Amino acid sequence: MAEAGGSEEAAAWAPDSWRSKPAKQLVTYPDEDALNSTLTELSRLPPLVSVKEIESLREQLAEVAAGARFALQGGDCAERFEDCQEDAIRKKLRIMLQMSLVLTWGARIPTVRVARMAGQFAKPRSKEKEMVGEELVHTFRGDNINGFDVKDRTPDPARMLKGYFHSAATLLAAKSLIADGFADIHDAAHWNLGFVADSSKREQYEKLVEDVADAISFAHTCGVTGGDRLGVVDLYVCHEGMALPYEQSLTRQAPDGKWYNRGAQFIWIGDRTRQLDGAHVEYFRGLANPIGIKVGPTMAPEDLVPLIRALWPDPEGTPGKITLITRYGAGKVSSLLPKHIAAVQESGLKPVWICDPCHGNTTTSESGYKTRDFDMVLAEVTKAFEVHDRMGSVFGGVHIELTGENVTECVGGPENLMDSDLPMRYTTYCDPRLNYAQSMEMAFLLAKLIARSKKKRAPQARAPAAAPSSPLRPAKRARQEAGAAAGL
Ligand code: PEP
Ligand code: CO
Repeated sequence: MAEAGGSEEAAAWAPDSWRSKPAKQLVTYPDEDALNSTLTELSRLPPLVSVKEIESLREQLAEVAAGARFALQGGDCAERFEDCQEDAIRKKLRIMLQMSLVLTWGARIPTVRVARMAGQFAKPRSKEKEMVGEELVHTFRGDNINGFDVKDRTPDPARMLKGYFHSAATLLAAKSLIADGFADIHDAAHWNLGFVADSSKREQYEKLVEDVADAISFAHTCGVTGGDRLGVVDLYVCHEGMALPYEQSLTRQAPDGKWYNRGAQFIWIGDRTRQLDGAHVEYFRGLANPIGIKVGPTMAPEDLVPLIRALWPDPEGTPGKITLITRYGAGKVSSLLPKHIAAVQESGLKPVWICDPCHGNTTTSESGYKTRDFDMVLAEVTKAFEVHDRMGSVFGGVHIELTGENVTECVGGPENLMDSDLPMRYTTYCDPRLNYAQSMEMAFLLAKLIARSKKKRAPQARAPAAAPSSPLRPAKRARQEAGAAAGL
């Protein structure tokens, strides 16, 4: 047994101490022997991420908390085993990279990318069972637990092993793509701005993309960044730490005695499993990883700080450790977020605040599809930004369900998708994702919001941040700034 986070008062913690606490969202496996032998096998398999990467993400998140970096967290709601293919992985990486380049360049702020990828295989559900036709079956809980096909809904522990290997393969493919330099990012033609119908907006976006592409090739040609920056691009992965038996198996002790979840650099506690006395909080409190907490409308302001403290025993020594991922819905954010910010400000704690504008804005279309309206998603981000700015708090980033594919799952956006378009390419296994065009539009708009807020915060600055709509800069200055696009 270890003392969680080194605090003397904290009760003893072990990777399995969560088992004595009430747990939500965990499934019962019909064959316990099969479950146990799978977990033993998993716990012998090598870790997927390094301690160094985990600690470097925490350090970058500390910069986010201080307003010096912007966090872009995004990806599928539920990853699918069948998408573990090079082309699909390339598209997931490309959208994250392109969005972050737009943010870095447009708002002059380095970004940290954390993809919902390589392990986002377990989903919390509001119902345990559902009717499919005449049959009452388990709800689909992610490829790590059961299958999407109705014949495959019984929880099967062997899926966790598959999940481990699919995560490993995804990570390896992502690292290889990055090591190969992601050459096509240099080429403006791969930015696919065909979706921008409005011609003046299109000109602005094209200019921004040209600048980014020029800056990257300049950096490559001259080595101004001291080498091939894109070759060492940081990419971190995250998933919801929901399936505790799996997470426990990937929990390993470092030589200095700290315990790390080595299945991803960052994991988060979902909005349905964040009870202070529950199994998930018990598991998370012993980890040294940076972790997220989803904060939705049911979080009482007086419960937030005790929860953060339970999970963050050493706030001074481990900046960047806690990220609050707020997700209220566009109609609620302006009334609920200020109370949460005020409670945290009063405590003196400095967590990272990021906005998930997706999970509070899910609706059902007239045709029965789960969907989100791009305008509502944008409205939640914009309002959250305003609240943070007004309260002197740092809006640190976004957490978005998105894909680089041209799906039709969310309505609105630059292509103005309608309810009637949803059946065309609706491929998500779970929640609807912003598609390529909607995600890129979001990045352009976010860059403007950040640039505007930076300008407001630093009215005396001699060289104000350039917004995407700023007039053309002389080529020389653009080149000088190539190095500054360091979060590349
Ligand atoms: C999710 O991020 O996919 C999710 C289920 O979110 P939340 O816990 O905020 O509902
Ligand atoms: Co979701």
